[in-house]
Amino acid sequence: MTKATDFIPQEYTHEVTEKGNFQWSAPSNIALVKYWGKKENQIPANPSISFTLNNCKTITKLEFEPIKSTSENFSFDLFLDGKSKEDFKPKMQKFFERVEIYLPFLKDFHFAISTENTFPHSSGIASSASGMGAMAVNLMSIEKLFNPEMTEEYFWKKASFLARLGSGSACRSIKGSVVVWGETESVENSSDLFGVEFSETIHSNFQNYQDTILLVDKGEKVVSSTVGHELMHNHPFAKNRFEQAHENLAQMKQILIHGNLEKFVSLVESEALTLHAMMMTSMPYFILMKPNTLEIINKIWKFRQDTGVQVCFTLDAGANVHVLYPENDKEKVLQFIKNELIVYCQNQQYICDEIGSGAQKLN
Ligand code: PMV
Repeated sequence: MTKATDFIPQEYTHEVTEKGNFQWSAPSNIALVKYWGKKENQIPANPSISFTLNNCKTITKLEFEPIKSTSENFSFDLFLDGKSKEDFKPKMQKFFERVEIYLPFLKDFHFAISTENTFPHSSGIASSASGMGAMAVNLMSIEKLFNPEMTEEYFWKKASFLARLGSGSACRSIKGSVVVWGETESVENSSDLFGVEFSETIHSNFQNYQDTILLVDKGEKVVSSTVGHELMHNHPFAKNRFEQAHENLAQMKQILIHGNLEKFVSLVESEALTLHAMMMTSMPYFILMKPNTLEIINKIWKFRQDTGVQVCFTLDAGANVHVLYPENDKEKVLQFIKNELIVYCQNQQYICDEIGSGAQKLN
């Protein structure tokens, strides 16, 4: 079994004396079985499984230049859409601190990190998964210069491991269409340390599965994910919830293999509502859904009942609704969304996405 210490490099075989740059994109992901609650060092309290998205992604260029004398501090500039972004720096600083022992070269370089997202600004779509994912693969590209013999397997595993240290769910944004994170009996080789690609063949019903994201509320969340995870400590229902996630993941595995859409719909919706039920039963309690979130959920239930189309919703830690449906039903569902759901979105905004495959190298 892989341990965290396996990612501390032995001596590097090569030196990096020239400046250079890499550019990668990494996508967002949407969990089917949700991660909520964590232990120290970004270890999840329960396993999760997600679809990797295709269109919602972060593109990050990482320029690096060796510094003559090794400095005490990390040296980096951060740009979002070409503009210096001072308020992102503390998060990056913290990330560098966490990963330094696994990437001992970090203080030998000055970095210019230029990042952009394909989804609209402050859309309420978290960019932390895609952002940390893109950063992690870029850093692995640099490590590969020090250690060109590195295997593909190590590259991807460690990229996911590093991404996790940036933002938990980011470890599911690195490689594969369906990714499991968190050690669980039903998935061989699953790990708390990194995401693993779902190794079974997925039923054709899920091929190019669609995710239309309805932007219900673009405002700042009232409670951050960090605080939300924290509130699962001493939560009266935490123990049962964590056990349930293992069971639900085992069920989801069978559903993805056999293609039972009715079971998929009920498990995905139950997981979304359970996540929010955990928030509502935390102390202090909080609600991230908005009235329009509920309007949309009720419309989806009615549409499903009236038409038999297996469309369902899921939610992240926010008010936006992810509408999931098979590619075959794309036209019908998009028409339904336009006719009945976009009135509940801020400025009628929504994003059409579908299952993707993970991070991509752009240069
Ligand atoms: O990765 P974090 O700490 O932002 O947590 C995200 C958790 C959920 O999005 C609510 C669920 C999940 O598994 O992605």
